[in-house]
Amino acid sequence: MSTTLTEQFTKGLEDVIAGSTSICTINPENESLLYRGYSATALSENANFEEVAHLLIEGRLPKKRELKRLTKLFIQERKIPKPLVKVLKQIPQAASPMDVLRTSVSFIGAIEENKQYSVEETKQIAYSLIAKLPFALMTWFHLSKNQPVPKITKTLSYAGRFLQLVTGVEPDSFEEKVINASFILYAEHEFNASTFCARVTASTMSDIYSAITSGIGALKGPLHGGANEAAMELMLKFSSPSDAEAGILDMLNRKEKIMGFGHRVYKKGDGRSNVMKKYAQELAVKKGTPKYYEIAERIEKIVKEKKGLPPNADFYSALVYYLLGIPIPLYTPIFVLSRMAGWSAHILEQLSDNRLIRPRAFYQGPPQREFVPIDRR
Ligand SMILES: CC(C)(COP(=O)(O)OP(=O)(O)OC[C@H]1O[C@@H](n2cnc3c(N)ncnc32)[C@H](O)[C@@H]1OP(=O)(O)O)[C@@H](O)C(=O)NCCC(=O)NCCS
Repeated sequence: MSTTLTEQFTKGLEDVIAGSTSICTINPENESLLYRGYSATALSENANFEEVAHLLIEGRLPKKRELKRLTKLFIQERKIPKPLVKVLKQIPQAASPMDVLRTSVSFIGAIEENKQYSVEETKQIAYSLIAKLPFALMTWFHLSKNQPVPKITKTLSYAGRFLQLVTGVEPDSFEEKVINASFILYAEHEFNASTFCARVTASTMSDIYSAITSGIGALKGPLHGGANEAAMELMLKFSSPSDAEAGILDMLNRKEKIMGFGHRVYKKGDGRSNVMKKYAQELAVKKGTPKYYEIAERIEKIVKEKKGLPPNADFYSALVYYLLGIPIPLYTPIFVLSRMAGWSAHILEQLSDNRLIRPRAFYQGPPQREFVPIDRR
């Protein structure tokens, strides 16, 4: 390898432009995140997740009749195959819900008869998986606890239906608005680790099931999607804001990471966090349970003062989910359900102008040496 190539090596590919996209861009200077040119925060206030899924996958916002068709498709396609229900029944209650999602995608792919998908078929599979995954996840979640899977009892959006599937209670319009906003804000984020994994798999001309499975595997880790669960576990350890202050200072002295803070790209702040913080505050007031909001604010203040680190999208999202009554192990799976839209858009974009993604490595091992037979080692 030439010297110029090794000189370009950057650990963790930080700031490396690894490809081009027209799906999404991040501007860390003004904390902006654009989906196909539209501000993600504006979309989270004004659109529903179905519209954003269409925007990301088709490249434009849907017209009324297109939205109606997609809404209907998500409802029609939600039924999961019977063989999958059998598989889900065998996955223990103690399993990670992320493993349940990964297995579901992989299993649905395995029982498909067709193995060579055109771009159009790949798109239809994407929509079908977006429809099915909440039901696969919640079927396992409730059946593994020997409880019935809740019925959807009123006309709700995609995100609202998910919330009712989790809690068994009809969400009110504010709760539906909040969970919908969270689904939109998590839907896409440029070349993050899981999206990059999905694109790498798609670039080998493998299929969408394999690419999505790669994405779920990468998203599971605590440095990526898993941070929202860890952030809530952390908040729950504290009994008051002053207890949180002392605990966080201790952790920082021990050089421990505070989950839900810091970001590879946003160094000044993450615009998504401001939206989720506002909703967390409103929910805390509405539910009359301000304790964890106050604890969260104190943690934010201390981490900012001591490390200069702002919260990322995961920190206040975690609190929002907690206040919506969602069990903690489902926080990262929500990220999957939402990011399905972004991953699908990236897989399709990769296929539309494919070149195998195959970088080089900066070799740091020994120089070439002679083989040593086993009795002389
Ligand atoms: C997201 C993350 C992996 C980005 O990592 P990165 O770009 O590699 O940043 P670095 O780990 O190099 O961090 C730079 C400095 O900030 C510190 N830092 C970063 N995130 C921190 C955190 N959450 N808590 C405490 N310190 C943190 C690092 O220890 C490092 O300090 P040092 O210079 O004294 O060694 C990292 O911020 C992190 O682990 N955050 C917690 C997990 C999380 O919330 N992930 C969700 C991301 S959306």
